[in-house]
Amino acid sequence: MKIKDLEFKKFITADRIEKKVAALAKHIDKDYKDKSPVFLPVLNGSFMFAADLLKEVTIPCRVSFVKISSYAGTASTGQLKSLIGHDESLFGTDIIIVEDIVDTGLTLQKVSDELKGLGAKSVEAVSLLRKQPAREKNIDIKYIGFELEQEFVVGYGLDYDGLGRNLKDIYSRVG
Ligand code: IMP
Repeated sequence: MKIKDLEFKKFITADRIEKKVAALAKHIDKDYKDKSPVFLPVLNGSFMFAADLLKEVTIPCRVSFVKISSYAGTASTGQLKSLIGHDESLFGTDIIIVEDIVDTGLTLQKVSDELKGLGAKSVEAVSLLRKQPAREKNIDIKYIGFELEQEFVVGYGLDYDGLGRNLKDIYSRVG
């Protein structure tokens, strides 16, 4: 499959994603059974994962979308804008950040630091995908779906220059 100038092949099927998402939700349900967490999906990439995950979560919870971006094309610019979209009511809450993918971990660290600064009671993260740099740097992610190496992926919310977010399977770049 081609998106603009790049070739992609199917990498993680929708069926495997569905099973993994259900397992992650079950784990969260168990850990937070006496709590009422606030899920904070980081837009845009996590919209599809967040929707599917939250349909499987059964504990009482709230959802509030936030936005931040560190990417242009296929390489991290390392430049972070600040977190937008959250509200003051996060003080004293148990927060679960919802990420599509953690690569360098810069985005997650930024979001996590800002939330701790806002007085959240606890801040944990769930990410569908984790790349090798985050693994090497020991970035703190409590719930992880799939481990990747360095491959660039699209689909299931993830994009290449804005395209491919609507695909229900995850594709990796060929070559
Ligand atoms: P980090 O700050 O380097 O961890 O990058 C996290 C963000 O970069 C993710 O939320 C994605 O939006 C984007 N990103 C990282 N790797 C990929 C990829 O392989 N495909 C699409 N987007 C990616």
